Amino acid sequence: MSRGLFIVGTDTDVGKTLVAGGLARFLRRQNYNVGVMKPFESGLARRKEGETDTHFLMSMAEVKDACEEVNPYRFQESLAPGVAAARAGIEVSFKEIGKKFEILAKRHPWMIVEGAGGLIVPLTSHETHLELIKMLGLPVLVVGRLSLGTINHTMLTIHCLKSVGIPVAGIVLNQTSPEVTVAEEANPQVIQSMTSLSLWGVLPYLKDSRDPDVVVGVIQERLGDAIYRFIQSA
Ligand SMILES: Nc1ncnc2c1ncn2[C@@H]1O[C@H](COP(=O)(O)OP(=O)(O)OP(=O)(O)O)[C@@H](O)[C@H]1O
Ligand SMILES: [Mg+2]
Repeated sequence: MSRGLFIVGTDTDVGKTLVAGGLARFLRRQNYNVGVMKPFESGLARRKEGETDTHFLMSMAEVKDACEEVNPYRFQESLAPGVAAARAGIEVSFKEIGKKFEILAKRHPWMIVEGAGGLIVPLTSHETHLELIKMLGLPVLVVGRLSLGTINHTMLTIHCLKSVGIPVAGIVLNQTSPEVTVAEEANPQVIQSMTSLSLWGVLPYLKDSRDPDVVVGVIQERLGDAIYRFIQSA
């Protein structure tokens, strides 16, 4: 079984790429050979060349793998991958993703894989992240927003993963907007009180959330201890 993490979001735009990229660069800095994968990426029509999640993850991990290996399926429309694939007439094969993952995992002993959107989005006509994560055999790191609504989204995501026996390594809460209300202050403690899983930490709002040094700095400061514990247990 490979070592690494599958980064699951409680929704789209919660900070999966920020966390996945930051983790990859953090591990690189500790001299780990880390590979990345973004099996599905949607919404390319609204992204400039070089601004995709795939590109960010590869640059943070400092890998030179083929883009087709890191990102086997990409879609122009901003839609759940299974929906975008059906509209584009593309047949998605988990087997192909598995083959590419195996190639990358042979090259890189540590793998960070980023999901697409939230946990139960359709990836094919009949499969979601649940089947993909089981196939790849990685434990999950759940990333959720810090703001109001996150208790429900985070707990539903955790319950769903647990119900099918997928191991969850931890939870990260990410402040995606600058406003701090009483919800942002209360949510970490509430979530920690509702689960025995480890809350790895809370990431603050960042003015430059795509600057590699800013991202890895905050990952080290806020999640460093939890990452070291995870590495030792993996
Ligand atoms: N802590 C933060 N502070 C400020 N901006 C953030 C923070 N985290 C994420 N962002 C910004 O919010 C947006 C969404 O973050 P990100 O791309 O990491 O989400 P995602 O969960 O990977 O989304 P997707 O479902 O599209 O893959 C990006 O523009 C990102 O730079
Ligand atoms: Mg992303």
